[in-house]
Amino acid sequence: MKTKVTVVGAGNVGATVAQGIALKELADVVLVDIVEGVPQGKSLDMMETAPVEKYDSILRGTNTYDGTEDSDVVVITAGLPRKPGMSRDDLLWKNEEIVGGVTAEVAKRSPNAIIIVVSNPLDAMCEVARRVSKFPRERVLGMAGVLDSARMRAFIAMELNVSVENTHAFVLGGHGDTMVPLPRYSTVAGIPITELIAKERIDAIVDRTRNGGAEIVNLLKTSAWYAPGASTVEMVEAILKDKRKILPCAAFLQGEYGYNDLFVGVPVKLGRNGMEQIIEIKLEDDEAAALRKSADAVKELVDKLKTP
Ligand code: NAI
Ligand code: 2OP
Repeated sequence: MKTKVTVVGAGNVGATVAQGIALKELADVVLVDIVEGVPQGKSLDMMETAPVEKYDSILRGTNTYDGTEDSDVVVITAGLPRKPGMSRDDLLWKNEEIVGGVTAEVAKRSPNAIIIVVSNPLDAMCEVARRVSKFPRERVLGMAGVLDSARMRAFIAMELNVSVENTHAFVLGGHGDTMVPLPRYSTVAGIPITELIAKERIDAIVDRTRNGGAEIVNLLKTSAWYAPGASTVEMVEAILKDKRKILPCAAFLQGEYGYNDLFVGVPVKLGRNGMEQIIEIKLEDDEAAALRKSADAVKELVDKLKTP
């Protein structure tokens, strides 16, 4: 297979992304991690899965960046979780160092790649990848909105006992507890959920969506990977197949929605060039105010970054 995706970070999310790409035969995958044996072992395990699952994607694990050259897409999942005694700022700076280092390595070997950042804090890490790679904004995107919307869709389907396939949901803003789920633009078979679900139940779904990451952490004592992995693969697929699919992604805004030079989650048309278009939707005053609060929270973190 000629198409190549590099996935940096062979932990829970990275390995799930690699597996999803192989299962859909989207590309060959190079899995990179600093821990010796882990990317090699996971890649070999997935190569041995291939005869059963019937895919011909080649997966290779490495502790260097050799073999990542000319990747079409690079997914960055490398990072640390917050540890006891570590402040949010400590985590921000530690992951800034990791994501910055990773970006420098991949950008010089794959200058035409589209970068999808997954590492947290998501929107700030997108900005680190953009500054270090110096890629145009069309080729640096963050995965969060697909995940947050998928969670909201799952909760809507559970509420109404309908197929998830009938559900659509839009969640805008940063990937944090200030994210902005938009019930007015969330539908079941084309019908706004505001016509189908009582207000207090919608409020509960919105709250659960905002806390979706924390709900899993409370259960697992670590963060989620199946839905984050699948959501990232949906973005990779939209890009590699040039689907021009509209998905909520963290994108570097330059005037859209009234924001400048800031990554914020917005609907993006994804195709072979990465971000083909940002879709601007009309927001009510309360929705615009919620988006402002979320963008302010992103800006507060971005202002603390050390990367020039
Ligand atoms: P994990 O701990 O399972 O995997 C992270 C991997 O990164 C580890 O294998 C580690 O060895 C590797 N790593 C650390 N420094 C590295 C470096 N310099 N170069 C290469 N690899 C390096 O964590 P998990 O669960 O896979 O999560 C990864 C990141 O994704 C975290 O920051 C997490 O918060 C974030 N995340 C973001 C989501 C989103 O919606 N944007 C959803 C889920 C997770
Ligand atoms: C999540 O939303 C922790 O960002 C991660 O699951």
